[in-house]
Amino acid sequence: MSENYYLKVNNLNVFYDNSQILFDLSLSTKKGKTLALLGRNGAGKSTTLKSLAGLTPIKSGSVLLDNQNIENLKPYNISRLGIGYVPEDRQVFKLHSVEENLLIGAKKNLKREEEIHLSGVYDFFPLLYDLRNRNAGLLSGGEQQMLSIARTLMGNPDILLLDEPSEGLAPIIVQDIAKLIKNLQNTNVTIIIAEQNIRFCFAIADHAAIIDKGSIVFENSIDELRKDTKTLKKYLAV
Ligand SMILES: Nc1ncnc2c1ncn2[C@@H]1O[C@H](COP(=O)(O)OP(=O)(O)OP(=O)(O)O)[C@@H](O)[C@H]1O
Ligand SMILES: [Mg+2]
Repeated sequence: MSENYYLKVNNLNVFYDNSQILFDLSLSTKKGKTLALLGRNGAGKSTTLKSLAGLTPIKSGSVLLDNQNIENLKPYNISRLGIGYVPEDRQVFKLHSVEENLLIGAKKNLKREEEIHLSGVYDFFPLLYDLRNRNAGLLSGGEQQMLSIARTLMGNPDILLLDEPSEGLAPIIVQDIAKLIKNLQNTNVTIIIAEQNIRFCFAIADHAAIIDKGSIVFENSIDELRKDTKTLKKYLAV
């Protein structure tokens, strides 16, 4: 019962207007771990991440971050408590430079004294340092994905919610994103990553949860999922 979860989601019910999208959805993860949230198109992955970030109203259920209820907080406050959200569509400010995009993301994490500085983010993303004066709209898809993650890191998050970071990227770039995520894991950040790319998740995740029609239908270690060909076939068409 008293397992030490860093993020614990209990029985979330979420609607868009009158249509229910998430049904008693529960999941949890421990500090410093990476959870892959897998599922087909339209299963509810993005809706789950948006609900955790405060961007979609939660009709009932609870979200505990480090034992604090956050399910009714505004997105700005959730982000200041340490949840960083990287949306599916990247949303970089195309007419602003890379560096301006990063500075827009700078926020203070209320729980921590230290602030992340541009130089720290550039250490992680040397490529973005080289591109710092370029308009974000001119970057490639992979570069925009890195910028989108880097901008969220400027908010100094304890948990990163990544929505399909591999989507639309060439395999070689996906490998770069995987390397980047591995480097982040060394900083003890907790990650929840929504993905359809299962091989990518096999390479980086500790645990997996599968969502189907708005409910969690599988939750276990990534190694157990790898062996579970029946589940892979049933829910992920692998
Ligand atoms: N703003 C919205 N208004 C109404 N319905 C929505 C809205 N956004 C998503 N939906 C519906 O909610 C369901 C879950 O969508 P969601 O985007 O969470 O799925 P997903 O698992 O992220 O899918 P994908 O892999 O395609 O990104 C889908 O049926 C979708 O059509
Ligand atoms: Mg999605």
